Amino acid sequence: MNNRKPVTLHRLREMRAAGEKIAVLTCYDAAFARVLDDAGVESLLVGDSLGMVLQGRASTIPVTIEEMAYHTDCVARGNRTAWIIADMPFGSYQESAEVAMRNAALLMQQGAHMVKIEGGGWIAPTVRFLVDRGVPVCAHLGFTPQSVHALGGYRVQGRDETGARVLHRHAEELAAAGAELLVLELVPAALARELTQALSIATIGIGAGAGCSGQVLVLHDMLGVTGGEPRRFVKNFLDGSAGVDDAVRKYVADVKGGRFPDDAVHGF
Ligand code: KIV
Repeated sequence: MNNRKPVTLHRLREMRAAGEKIAVLTCYDAAFARVLDDAGVESLLVGDSLGMVLQGRASTIPVTIEEMAYHTDCVARGNRTAWIIADMPFGSYQESAEVAMRNAALLMQQGAHMVKIEGGGWIAPTVRFLVDRGVPVCAHLGFTPQSVHALGGYRVQGRDETGARVLHRHAEELAAAGAELLVLELVPAALARELTQALSIATIGIGAGAGCSGQVLVLHDMLGVTGGEPRRFVKNFLDGSAGVDDAVRKYVADVKGGRFPDDAVHGF
């Protein structure tokens, strides 16, 4: 068991300001929530990646708000001190800010401390609407899995100058709208580092290099149980570890010590 006080938004802000890396993992149930929290993971992301990881679907698109609410409740029951972020699934926030608020309320009532929304500047008014009503928001830019078909597959985003400039503008708009965290997925390491230095909020990278304020991986990927060829930015921490608990502790230590990710191995 860890001895820390519950992780708050204030603590996450302090960590960013102090340059202390934030260790995040996805989590979908109470048993793993207990293991991850005890091992010192600062934030548990109830990701809609559960559609692929737990349900065996081809994308996150079919995941419903009811499924997200169920898994958020499970994670909240196993957790003691970590900051819980719950993904708003496809279709639960695009229609209007009011619909987004109703769905965010459902996730917060199940134990989320923050909700995560994918998309660029077009969701900034929704972010503002939620933040003004007491819902902390994590934005998600770069490769946004709910838009996999629109983006033409799993591709690194912001590779050229125009793409990088657009990403930068979206990030500024989301931060100005009150987003408190920003997930950057599949973004060149140099661009993610530049964004992290330019923004006043913490960035959490996945396939975005070592320059982010923190890192997130899909739990099943870092335990090597997803199957198939692991993607470049993933490391199997169970390999050579004494067990799941040890693997998660190594992940936390490597993120906090700046040893994971290694841009030469995991970066774009
Ligand atoms: O759903 C998820 O697991 C995510 C991470 C990939 C950041 O959004």
